[in-house]
Amino acid sequence: MTWIADSSLTVFQRFCINVLKCGPVPNHIAFIMDGNRRYAKKTNVEKSEGHSKGFEKLSECLQWCKELGIKEVTVYAFSIENFKRSEDEVNTLMQLAREKFQKLLEEKDKMMEEGICIRVIGNLSLLPSDIRKLIAEAMILTKDNTKAVLNVAFSYTSRDEITNSMKEIVKGVDDGEVTVEDIDEDLISQCLYTNQSPNPEVLVRTSGEVRLSDFLLWQSSNTYICFTDVLWPEFCIWHLLACVFKYQRCCHDLKKYEQECNINKNVKSSRVVNFLENLQRRRLELLAHYASA
Ligand code: FPP
Ligand code: MG
Repeated sequence: MTWIADSSLTVFQRFCINVLKCGPVPNHIAFIMDGNRRYAKKTNVEKSEGHSKGFEKLSECLQWCKELGIKEVTVYAFSIENFKRSEDEVNTLMQLAREKFQKLLEEKDKMMEEGICIRVIGNLSLLPSDIRKLIAEAMILTKDNTKAVLNVAFSYTSRDEITNSMKEIVKGVDDGEVTVEDIDEDLISQCLYTNQSPNPEVLVRTSGEVRLSDFLLWQSSNTYICFTDVLWPEFCIWHLLACVFKYQRCCHDLKKYEQECNINKNVKSSRVVNFLENLQRRRLELLAHYASA
């Protein structure tokens, strides 16, 4: 199964997409792809098959987002908490990631043709080195693509991300690159793994669980959150269109709140700009190191 499925929409589905596109469509949508194991149990298959079906659904969903004109997608593929699952299941999920990132590199011509930038957000130091290498290669290869962005949260939690941002800032203060007075919400945002992305306008969680499970907590303060009962492998285009439709009904107010938050942003001093450029450079160097390992 490839990362971006070929389009298989019916004429009626295309018509509905075009109707929705007359209204505001989110630039960035995030998914908590939950319910793979319950789907496996329900359909009497192995858990690993449930996760594979989950990946197939991701691939289909990326195609739907593309058709809708949604430029950026963020998915929660593996939480740091998931390391606490049985060794067998963690190994299964790691093997799936290994195969899929390998596949992504094999499909690099398609990725470059479609202009897709892949970013893996999370604590890569916790991953097996071969997976880290594949991820680093994929990120370096696609980093300048701008037509669409896919952020894969892998070995991720928000609290880990915010802790990491704090550590970068404290190091910057210790090294004399920034001062305590430079610290504000914007600087913290700029040090998160998601610093290159706008906040998602919509976050969808499947499987009936009504919580965020440490996903994009900092980034989702003005996000429309859509909880749906369907298990992720059973998510279909109508569920996605329903979420976008519900967002359209309240997006005017959400955009107003987001603008109000942005009004208070200060212009960055050259000291802060330099600090952030150095941080970006160090992160790229680390990726290059992982890729060459
Ligand atoms: C949550 O369902 C799903 C996961 C922990 C894994 C999600 C991974 C994929 C959909 C594959 C994506 C892979 C890559 C490489 C991007 P669950 O296991 O919590 O199921 P449950 O809620 O029914 O127990
Ligand atoms: Mg779950």
